[in-house]
Amino acid sequence: MINLSHAALSLQGQPMFQILARAKQLEAAGVNILHFELGDPDFSANESAKQAVIEAINNNDTHYAPSSGIYELKEAIAKSDLTTKGFVPDIDQLLVTAGANIQLYYAIACTVNPGDEVIVPDPGFVSYYSILNYLKAKIVRVPLREENNWRLNPDDVLRVANDKTKMIIMNSPSNPTGAVMTKEEVEGVYGVAEYYNAVLLSDEVYGKIRYDEVNQYSPCVYDKCKERVIVVNSFSKSYAMTGFRLGVCMGPKHIIEKMGLLLEATSSCVSPFIQRAGVAALQDSKNQTSIMLHLLDERRKGLVKGLNEINGISCKMPQGAFYALANISKTGMTGEEFANKLLTDKGIAVTPGIVFGNEAKDYVRFSYTTRMANISEAIDRMRETP
Ligand SMILES: Cc1ncc(COP(=O)(O)O)c(C=O)c1O
Repeated sequence: MINLSHAALSLQGQPMFQILARAKQLEAAGVNILHFELGDPDFSANESAKQAVIEAINNNDTHYAPSSGIYELKEAIAKSDLTTKGFVPDIDQLLVTAGANIQLYYAIACTVNPGDEVIVPDPGFVSYYSILNYLKAKIVRVPLREENNWRLNPDDVLRVANDKTKMIIMNSPSNPTGAVMTKEEVEGVYGVAEYYNAVLLSDEVYGKIRYDEVNQYSPCVYDKCKERVIVVNSFSKSYAMTGFRLGVCMGPKHIIEKMGLLLEATSSCVSPFIQRAGVAALQDSKNQTSIMLHLLDERRKGLVKGLNEINGISCKMPQGAFYALANISKTGMTGEEFANKLLTDKGIAVTPGIVFGNEAKDYVRFSYTTRMANISEAIDRMRETP
């Protein structure tokens, strides 16, 4: 058998997909499963986005496209509030990609050398850890705390930053906590990045998914993405377009240029007909996000209230994204044991917190991208003993 590379051996992937596979197996065996494991909104993409793809294919817009993205999409993005917050970036600060995940890889590969330190929130999105391990960066975890409503604290970032810090990753609203950072916190983290001349990678895929009229603050306003801020974003969550695989990254030109070359060398370009869907989604007056937000808000409140009524479980009210991180430490089980038991005994699929980092080992993540009826049913099943 051929030996695998060290890089391949470090690969972790996204364990949620393994949980989904187990849940599907049980389903195939006739078990009724309630799904809370994946962060995939159960809403349909806008009609106009779907029609734009069909039309583009019928018009034979099915060839290679410019590798950094079609001009119409980049222009529409530059004028939209998807990535920018009150300024218009230059077109060559934008890179159109197949979703946001790959942007993390491109951005880290183009700025971080093996051994460079990268500060990552714990708990945080699993791809950060996988990609950083794959690229041999040194991961420096900064703990998020439930007492601080899981928000990233600039003092904690400062405590672990040093001259070897090459990048700081922030994610507000956050997966898996749903926390949304305040303006002061964002400004503070930007200050640390500036002091140590580090890249500040701001993952804003949930930027539009917020409740209680809370604002999303992006560090991009401080340098207009000309110096150090790289904004990672996509149509996946805000426009319920996960399967389209369409994203846009905004950053300093010289970094975006190299990320574009990496994209060109590895996947050539994003399908042109998919990019047309992005143009249509941005131009559609029917606001897909606000329709979703209304329903997500109802689910958020229902789920968190229900969880807090169950013995041994407590859960902070998240202010963004569509995740609730429930504390199950009083059950005497680890998050992993609890998640296994929940799936086997109650047919409820959730993600154990440990997947997102050690700080969440006594937690499980519920993704409320499922109907309210399923949420109520899950709460009822959890209330039943044993
Ligand atoms: C924080 C975060 N960043 C990035 C992504 C990847 O998004 P995309 O589907 O656009 O690749 C996800 C998906 O779950 C996420 O939660």
